[in-house]
Amino acid sequence: MNDILLMLPGPTTVHPRVLNAMSKAVVNHRGAKYGEILTETTELMSKVFQTPNNSYLLTGSGTAAMEAGIANTVAPGEKMLNVVGGKFGERFMKIAQTHGIDTKELAVEWGTAVTPEAIAEALDEDEDIKAVSVIHNETSTGVAAPIEEIGKVMKNYDALYIVDTVSSLGGDEVNVEKFGIDVCLTGSQKCLAAPPGMAAITLSDEAWAAVEKVETNTFYLDLKAARKSGDKMPPETPYTPSVSLTYAMNEALKMVMEEGLDARVARHHK
Ligand SMILES: Cc1ncc(COP(=O)(O)O)c(C=O)c1O
Repeated sequence: MNDILLMLPGPTTVHPRVLNAMSKAVVNHRGAKYGEILTETTELMSKVFQTPNNSYLLTGSGTAAMEAGIANTVAPGEKMLNVVGGKFGERFMKIAQTHGIDTKELAVEWGTAVTPEAIAEALDEDEDIKAVSVIHNETSTGVAAPIEEIGKVMKNYDALYIVDTVSSLGGDEVNVEKFGIDVCLTGSQKCLAAPPGMAAITLSDEAWAAVEKVETNTFYLDLKAARKSGDKMPPETPYTPSVSLTYAMNEALKMVMEEGLDARVARHHK
């Protein structure tokens, strides 16, 4: 079974070390042992995101983190600019619309990348835009957006910079702090090479300030609840997490750090 080589953006082939980690005994998710593994895993997650801020694990696929990232930081009726150059850009905009957000599409020809200038132009045209969503690697076309350069432009505006790195984190350069990303999210099953079913998200101080003001209309994905449980001693998640997938993420992230982010990115580029 382990000799299956998946040549997809994701799920990708899961290393036996990660599969073995998943076969460890399931522990009480409100006990000290799980607290330890959760702390270690979220700290590793923040290292891979390259942020000093906390990361949160969500039991759900990447789309859950996309929804959490938007629904907690942008209020219904507020304006959001969505870069759409493929299926996942479309999905980000649809999620925003589902939450009653006033979306503005920045359409990019499929197969091409958005330019920082186009984003600046759209923000100059409408100063009420509260957030901008960008897909880093638009998996449906294979085009990567220049998220570092966009980050430089975003520093000139108050709008939050929300980036989907579901199919890039661990495979392409993502430096949340350096690039000035306010909300960065990812999934377990792509370049991180863990099984599908877990997602992760990290927020800047500015994004948390927005969270305080937004009346969240999602219960399961409420990030205030995630933060409250994460701050407990021992740390927890608000609802029952996939304990086995937490083990898997822990091992997969250790493997990412053992390889080294630069070496791993170079390997993916090759
Ligand atoms: C860029 C991107 N964003 C979001 C998703 C959605 O992730 P999931 O299928 O894990 O919900 C994917 C999945 O292919 C993706 O490639």
